[in-house]
Amino acid sequence: MNAQKCSKTDLASRLAEAEVTHSLTRDEIVALLETDAYDGALYAAADRVRARYVGDAVHLRGLIEFSNICKCNCLYCGLRRDNRRLSRYRLEPEQVLACAETARSFGYGTVVLQSGEANILPVDRMCDLIRRIKALDVAVTLSMGEKPREVYQAYREAGADRYLLRIETTDRALYRAMDPGMDWDNRVRCLHDLRDLGYEVGTGCLVGIPGQSLESLADDILFFRELNADMIGIGPFIANPDTPLAGSPNGSFELSCKVMAITRLLLPDINIPATTAMETLLPEGRILALQRGANVVMLNVTEMGYRQSYALYPGKAGATDTPAESRARLLAKLQSIGRRPGSGYGSHQRRREA
Ligand code: 5AD
Ligand code: SF4
Repeated sequence: MNAQKCSKTDLASRLAEAEVTHSLTRDEIVALLETDAYDGALYAAADRVRARYVGDAVHLRGLIEFSNICKCNCLYCGLRRDNRRLSRYRLEPEQVLACAETARSFGYGTVVLQSGEANILPVDRMCDLIRRIKALDVAVTLSMGEKPREVYQAYREAGADRYLLRIETTDRALYRAMDPGMDWDNRVRCLHDLRDLGYEVGTGCLVGIPGQSLESLADDILFFRELNADMIGIGPFIANPDTPLAGSPNGSFELSCKVMAITRLLLPDINIPATTAMETLLPEGRILALQRGANVVMLNVTEMGYRQSYALYPGKAGATDTPAESRARLLAKLQSIGRRPGSGYGSHQRRREA
């Protein structure tokens, strides 16, 4: 159907134009997602746009998974509340600080604090932790789920720079089915609050959740643009045997890369991570993603004893590597593709009209 709306020659020339105009229609995005005929051209275009707008530096972030406790029950996720097979943990602030110091000693410009959605620490203690990490001279990114605006404000005043909250999908019916008890509109409210409070805002989606259409993936990409996001994380769905979606087919690596590459074309100067889920589906998946539009890698610096318990999905890449091994491995690979680790905080520098 989209082939009628968008002939083959049209699509090739629209792709070339999009490299300059950074715009595509919904039909054109769907047509690109439907066929693999333009994948090579799409990836090459995304790689050129990445080089032109954000350069060859790959910003490294130190990821601290500080608690796997979660009150939500997302059908796809191993941290979901009803998963009794997971042993739950919460790192003490001192332990989090030690991980942050490791990240700093590796030269990572950003520390990402990620947890399930729960009141892991009272707000004042969390703020205290943020202040102590900020004193290490790093950017602080939080990824702790939906919170009231006042809480986001308190974290921001304590020094948090960025916040990651994936929309997961813009298909409301699918969201309702996948994230029981959660409210899509509240999630969007959170993203707007974060923006108003001056955070750099990251969102993103899962690719290949059962029941997801290519049209809804096109809507996800247009949503990222509408929000004018600073960072977009895109990863394939990976079926977790300890969830209701056990046995469902995994999302596709290539489709995830295509969603990512189109996002790079439309939002040319943002930060886009090569995600762990991509590396989990395909060895070297992260390096391929870096050659198809990505410019960020998050490396785990969580204490080894807790890694296996942050089991969003099975077989998570790098789960048995020490922080030093992950770093050494990645640096060697970056060198092999002619890229270098970034310096400084690696913040989003707007190089386009807002
Ligand atoms: N496969 C891939 N990604 C997942 N996430 C949660 N469960 C899975 C899964 N089974 C992602 C969600 C969430 C992020 C922290 O992890 O997109 O936002
Ligand atoms: Fe909790 Fe996030 Fe997993 Fe949903 S995706 S169950 S909110 S950790």
